[in-house]
Amino acid sequence: MHNADYLSREALERLGFASLGEHVLIHPTCVLVGCGRMRIGSHVRIDPFCVITMSAEFVIGDRVHISAHASLLGAGGITIGDYACISHGTRVLSSSDDFSGPSICGPLVPPEWRHVVTAPIQVARHGVLGANSVILPGGGLGEGATVGALSLVKAVLEPWTVNAGVPTRVVGRRDREGVLAEERSLAAQLRG
Ligand SMILES: CC(C)(COP(=O)(O)OP(=O)(O)OC[C@H]1O[C@@H](n2cnc3c(N)ncnc32)[C@H](O)[C@@H]1OP(=O)(O)O)[C@@H](O)C(=O)NCCC(=O)NCCS
Repeated sequence: MHNADYLSREALERLGFASLGEHVLIHPTCVLVGCGRMRIGSHVRIDPFCVITMSAEFVIGDRVHISAHASLLGAGGITIGDYACISHGTRVLSSSDDFSGPSICGPLVPPEWRHVVTAPIQVARHGVLGANSVILPGGGLGEGATVGALSLVKAVLEPWTVNAGVPTRVVGRRDREGVLAEERSLAAQLRG
């Protein structure tokens, strides 16, 4: 027995996504705002208690996993490439109040009184964001880049690098050829 069922296909279609692939699992405890701006690929899973509120385009590729308690939001737009993983408790922020300027902060202040920093965020194919990490507006992951747990991403990380820290630094290199060979093998196996 368990109580962790995902939304049915019918329930997903009622949400009115801009596009919706096959084999998509989204848990009913997720809060999704702006589904009409969301394009979701195939073989995607979004786990319990995620909050995705988009006032710009949100695009998820194929075979993407968004783990529990992740928050993805903002007016800058977010793109998540094929095979990317967004781990537990992460925050992907494509807009944020300016915390150091003279403006008042928060969504309850009229917009003309706020200074919101907005920039698109891309987590490219095979990007992996470690648990409880944060991407600020203008940050992102190049293809195959990974980020350790509890890290802060303020810039676009180089492809196939392993990164960690606050802010991140490069702590290693990922096996690009190995990962791409695995991808080819998986595709061949799935073709039968
Ligand atoms: C970043 C990570 C991948 C590095 O693993 P690794 O390749 O085995 O590297 P090491 O443990 O040898 O660490 C390399 C360096 O990075 C530092 N480092 C590793 N992880 C770090 C982290 N999360 N934050 C800050 N620094 C970190 C190490 O202290 C070490 O520094 P040094 O060279 O100055 O001694 C791993 O530590 C990590 O954080 N994985 C994330 C796991 C996760 O979030 N999973 C989610 C569920 S799937």
